Amino acid sequence: MSNRRVAIVAGCRTPFVRAGTVFRDLTAVDLGKACVRELLERTEVAPASIDTVVMGQVVPSVKAPNLAREVALGAGLPKSVPAHTVNRACASANQAIADVASAILLGHVEAGIAGGSECLSDVPILLGRRMARILVEAQKAKSLGARLATFARVRPRDLVPEAPAIAEPSTGLTMGQSAEKMAKENGITREEQDRIALASHRNGWAATEDGRLPAETCAVHVPPAYDVAVTADNLLRKDASLEALAALPPAFDRRHGTVTAGNSSPLTDGAAAVLLMSEEKARAEGYDALAYVRSWAVAAVDPGGQLLMGPGLAIPKALERAGLQLSDMDLVEMHEAFAAQVASNIQALESEAWAREKLGRSTAVGRVDRDRLNVCGGSIALGHPFGATGARITTTLAHEMKRRAAKFGLISVCAQGGMGFAMVLER
Ligand SMILES: CC(C)(COP(=O)(O)OP(=O)(O)OC[C@H]1O[C@@H](n2cnc3c(N)ncnc32)[C@H](O)[C@@H]1OP(=O)(O)O)[C@@H](O)C(=O)NCCC(=O)NCCS
Repeated sequence: MSNRRVAIVAGCRTPFVRAGTVFRDLTAVDLGKACVRELLERTEVAPASIDTVVMGQVVPSVKAPNLAREVALGAGLPKSVPAHTVNRACASANQAIADVASAILLGHVEAGIAGGSECLSDVPILLGRRMARILVEAQKAKSLGARLATFARVRPRDLVPEAPAIAEPSTGLTMGQSAEKMAKENGITREEQDRIALASHRNGWAATEDGRLPAETCAVHVPPAYDVAVTADNLLRKDASLEALAALPPAFDRRHGTVTAGNSSPLTDGAAAVLLMSEEKARAEGYDALAYVRSWAVAAVDPGGQLLMGPGLAIPKALERAGLQLSDMDLVEMHEAFAAQVASNIQALESEAWAREKLGRSTAVGRVDRDRLNVCGGSIALGHPFGATGARITTTLAHEMKRRAAKFGLISVCAQGGMGFAMVLER
């Protein structure tokens, strides 16, 4: 076992905005660059002292499939700094952080940048296989006549685009349908879901008003003239209320559903990144670390069962590796894909039956104190740019731990494919 520790030195993010709005003319690379450039400026770290960059992205661009490398080059890091991109669905930025942390623990690197970026305003729109074949053949045609003859085979249905679906490839169910299934099977009421959504907005709004979240957010200049800077999140609702949430129609099961646009995370554009260093390097460079990585774990459940229950397995695993209990956690950050998923995982952690059947232990993992949960808001209110969320959560938790002089903090994220990620931070 390594006796090295991984320091979270700093973190920042772009504003998180509704997809198709103010970042609609940007790409995930643009957002990642803006964020990493700001992280370098704020920390005044020497770009040459960064040994690696790892970024997460869930819906990659066919033009820049290794997002991390483009971000590193574009953000002004030396061309000699290697970079790779990871995809662990919504836990991709967490995986990026774990990758850099592993490299630090192994002694392979001393400092790295980890984060993620997602621009759902810029998803690849695909044409079917038949149309793709026709385009390739037309490109190879030796004469204009042959080319026109190839194009003459195009039928109207070949022009119908296919956008990537937010659905499980192995079951065909969308994330929303999966959340709906979990709400029904676990008896999670509409009211409980709406209360979680309301807390997300209230806490997010409070942390925005008092400057905690704006302090983590950088400005992004947008086209066409790049003279306008976007500086604020645009999904958060100051006026969120239980009444307004209760009035929304179900989004995924019109007749019997309880999952709505109000208690789901919205489609979002944004990027986030953290600067990680070995404890020794952070000290030598004079940085006061926000927090240290104590442990982490990943787990997976059958995607055909309850898709988003991964945290219910990953959390006890990360706590065991940390040698700690859930009750030791001063703060808990749970990614809110859907309020139904948050409530279902909390229910599992509090359940003896879950502990017996899934974890082979006789006692429940423990209670999640709602007053320590997502105290600066969560993905429902702030938004969820898939590849970036993990770095947003890690940044916010580390800052909040420092502010409150907290000893331990817990992160959990559910992800497509039935996966879950958890990490314990310490100070
Ligand atoms: C749920 C989802 C389908 C909703 O999409 P949408 O209909 O485009 O959502 P909108 O933001 O337009 O919201 C619909 C309506 O609810 C309203 N609304 C949303 N949240 C609200 C709130 N907290 N209070 C009051 N009204 C709210 C909107 O204002 C909008 O009203 P309008 O129709 O009068 O304009 C979409 O956000 C989604 O797919 N989310 C899930 C993403 C996902 O799968 N993530 C993966 C997680 S792992």
